[in-house]
Amino acid sequence: TLTQAEKAAVVTIWAKVATQADAIGAESLERLFSSYPQTKTYFPHFDLSQGSAQLRSHGSKVMNAIGEAVKHVDDIRGALAKLSELHAYILRVDPVNFKLLSHCILCSVAARYPSDFTPEVHAAWDKFLSSVSSVLTEKYR
Ligand code: HEM
Repeated sequence: TLTQAEKAAVVTIWAKVATQADAIGAESLERLFSSYPQTKTYFPHFDLSQGSAQLRSHGSKVMNAIGEAVKHVDDIRGALAKLSELHAYILRVDPVNFKLLSHCILCSVAARYPSDFTPEVHAAWDKFLSSVSSVLTEKYR
């Protein structure tokens, strides 16, 4: 669980990220698919070319879910319960991929807000994304 200071850091960086959530979401997916092309196998039905409508719309959905997790940081499990079932039982995404996407979201945020991305913010955001990933993969066990 996150400390009070870590939660505060997550809320602060999210306030910035939220203003460009769609662009950051799409960029995170672009980074995911170009750095880790094996992740594209989950999206055979998508047009994954840079800036495609599907990429932008999916990026926006992913960031919306992250925003819900920020809003309910003390109950991420409850906030993402339905998404957790979707990823585990229906989509069957291998848990390793959550680390890859988290890393790409981290990079997109860092690249856009370099001066806000202090080591403390980096650590807090990383821990937060790892909590989100744990919730989304815990139904597999
Ligand atoms: C769908 C969030 C990680 C693959 C979704 C949706 C959301 C979401 C909000 C849409 C659900 C709906 O339409 O009801 C997230 C979050 C993640 C995450 C917050 C982690 C931070 C991943 C990973 C993969 C993945 C790592 C695979 C590499 C998919 C696929 C869909 C989906 C294939 C269905 C797309 C479609 O057909 O529209 N995800 N996801 N997700 N996710 Fe994730």
